[in-house]
Amino acid sequence: MKTIGIMGGGQLGRMMTQAAKKIGFNVTVLDPGENSPAGQVADKQILGSWNDPESIKKIVTQCDVTTYDLEHINTDVLIELADAGHCIHPDPRVLKTIQDKLTQKQRLKEVGVAVPDFVQQDEGDTEAFGKFGFPLVQKTRTGGYDGKGVLVMKSADDVKNALPGPCMLEKMVDLDMELGVMVSRSTNGEIVTYPVTEMTFDDRSNILDLCIVPARISAELAVKAQKLAHDTMEAFGGVGIFGVELFLDKSGELSVNEVAPRPHNSGHYTIEACVTSQYEQHIRAVAGLPLGQATQARPSVMYNLLGEPDESGAPVVEGMEEILALPEVSLHMYGKKETRPFRKMGHITVTAETIEEAVDVTRKVQNLIKIKAES
Ligand SMILES: Nc1ncnc2c1ncn2[C@@H]1O[C@H](COP(=O)(O)OP(=O)(O)O)[C@@H](O)[C@H]1O
Ligand SMILES: [Mg+2]
Repeated sequence: MKTIGIMGGGQLGRMMTQAAKKIGFNVTVLDPGENSPAGQVADKQILGSWNDPESIKKIVTQCDVTTYDLEHINTDVLIELADAGHCIHPDPRVLKTIQDKLTQKQRLKEVGVAVPDFVQQDEGDTEAFGKFGFPLVQKTRTGGYDGKGVLVMKSADDVKNALPGPCMLEKMVDLDMELGVMVSRSTNGEIVTYPVTEMTFDDRSNILDLCIVPARISAELAVKAQKLAHDTMEAFGGVGIFGVELFLDKSGELSVNEVAPRPHNSGHYTIEACVTSQYEQHIRAVAGLPLGQATQARPSVMYNLLGEPDESGAPVVEGMEEILALPEVSLHMYGKKETRPFRKMGHITVTAETIEEAVDVTRKVQNLIKIKAES
């Protein structure tokens, strides 16, 4: 029986592990936190960091294939191990290009995938802002997530708040909607694309709030969005599932915002709504198996369960009985030992006959459920 190694033991690793176990693999997780969300369901957890060369060597040499649930990891060690013949998917060189938002966008531009205009901004180059023109979005090249490392500059007045470190500057897009498309690629180069999701964000935390699938856009736009995701996957050529975040602007134009070389928050819905979940698809791909169908069986809405703003400590789910009494509500909790303000603690997927019904039930769920701390 093959053993799959997963670097990173968070919720994405946990759901990957559940999918891998479902089809009969052994799973070893690497995470510095004891009894991590993924470690709780895996066969084995190695305690250690995804930045520590020794820990990385340990997991890669102990497993038949190694993958990851986060992109901020040590790629230099992974590249060495891949060169020595170890199986690591997606390819750590692809990860290295994607880790840096500037090289990621340069690659997409090179192959003709639509992206907002951008330039490189070297550390401390304060003249770059005015030269590029406002309004703009300044982004740190590496290490950002959930809006950390992203700053909107409307005018020269905002320059005083500039982010430190090597950055890129991007034209501010006049957003109509933010969309997401999951796309997978097998070891044979076969590409399977999922339906288009509509993403809304929580204004207080910048974390994904609701994810509505299929997105409420025209069939023509949906096809264009899927084509962009397909072309993005082809441009990078990794093996596994990627999440492609897209912008739809007010004039109806689509562009790629960013790419995550792993399962994505906007693809949680696939567990209940699609023939093959994003997690099983990822496992199939990295294990060299044929990909499954991405066909959506039911319209769905996903809602992230974030820790309440003023609560820290052992988590308690308030309203669990009430929400589980509603039709087609599926609850996922990640097994995190502690809730903190806006921490991702779990999610809900609602499926229904129509999108309107799924949105209606989700509104009820939102009013009923709260993640608090034990008092
Ligand atoms: N060029 C842009 N124009 C308008 N809004 C943007 C632009 N770039 C980013 N944003 C907004 O900021 C959010 C976070 O940016 P993103 O690059 O996706 O960073 P993160 O890695 O934190 O997800 C996006 O989801 C979007 O709402
Ligand atoms: Mg993003």
